[in-house]
Amino acid sequence: HTPAKKPPPMSILEVGGVPLPISSNEIWDKISKFEARPDDLILATYPKSGTTWMQEILDMIQNEGDVEKCKRAISLDRHPFIELTFPFKKKYDFEMALEMPSPRLLKTHLPSHLIPPSVWRQNCKIIYVARNAKDCLVSYYHYHRMTTLLPDPKSLEEFCQKFMSGEVAYGSWYDHVKGWWAAKDKHQILYLFYEDVKKNPKHEIHKVLEFLEKTLSEDVINKIIHHTSFDVMKKNPMANQSTVPSSIYDFTVSPFMRKGMPGDWKNHFTVAMNESFDKHFEKKMGETTLTFCV
Ligand code: A3P
Repeated sequence: HTPAKKPPPMSILEVGGVPLPISSNEIWDKISKFEARPDDLILATYPKSGTTWMQEILDMIQNEGDVEKCKRAISLDRHPFIELTFPFKKKYDFEMALEMPSPRLLKTHLPSHLIPPSVWRQNCKIIYVARNAKDCLVSYYHYHRMTTLLPDPKSLEEFCQKFMSGEVAYGSWYDHVKGWWAAKDKHQILYLFYEDVKKNPKHEIHKVLEFLEKTLSEDVINKIIHHTSFDVMKKNPMANQSTVPSSIYDFTVSPFMRKGMPGDWKNHFTVAMNESFDKHFEKKMGETTLTFCV
């Protein structure tokens, strides 16, 4: 494969009708030809849906509750994104993935129709985590405010319009959650919800274990729940993204581990915003069997 080159700064490139934070068409070509392995586990999410959280849960499961092993590197270095590479990295994430031994845990924010075809061909197991649209929007708004990777969101009202029309990195939340919901009928996909993991982590971890055909003792499961709780993760520099350079994340604006609370949208949405959001939501999601709480 090609020798590692330091990734250039990201830009937002439209691929298949979806704005993606990809530096060039050439890179997209390499990503779409990414070779998945049959024993890869893929964690797919729309941004701000609890990716880093589920990543920590899955790492703890794969390492059978060994906290020290899960502190071997920061989350961004432990498991590569298929398509995304942070500019401080020495090489592309997909190149990092090539060098990783199996079984790999790979992350992606891609909508299902843009997933590299090898993932389907190899019949990889996929865990998708969806989060309530309003909380996802609020979290994405604060993330836009604190990172130089994405444009200034301006006001929450303006960002809300962009979110509803899908003019944000990774495109429409509505298409993303619906696309993956439809894909689960044809592929090995475990579709989870952020709010369920928050409400009953033990129950959701058991679902993951069953999907992965793994068993762990109740002691280990309790240890996983503790290690991946918001308060413990927020203090863990290997999981809280606090080591991302200040040229990329401005923690004086917002921490990465911000609130981790379902329903935080209620502290942000005005009545008018909420009404127009609900109307639009009904139009976009009325037909689907997919339902969200909060
Ligand atoms: P908030 O901004 O609402 O706090 P992602 O990893 O996909 O970027 O998602 C980030 C969101 O997940 C942030 O949401 C973050 O606080 C939340 N999060 C991270 N770890 C969490 C945990 N252990 N429990 C609950 N929420 C968590």
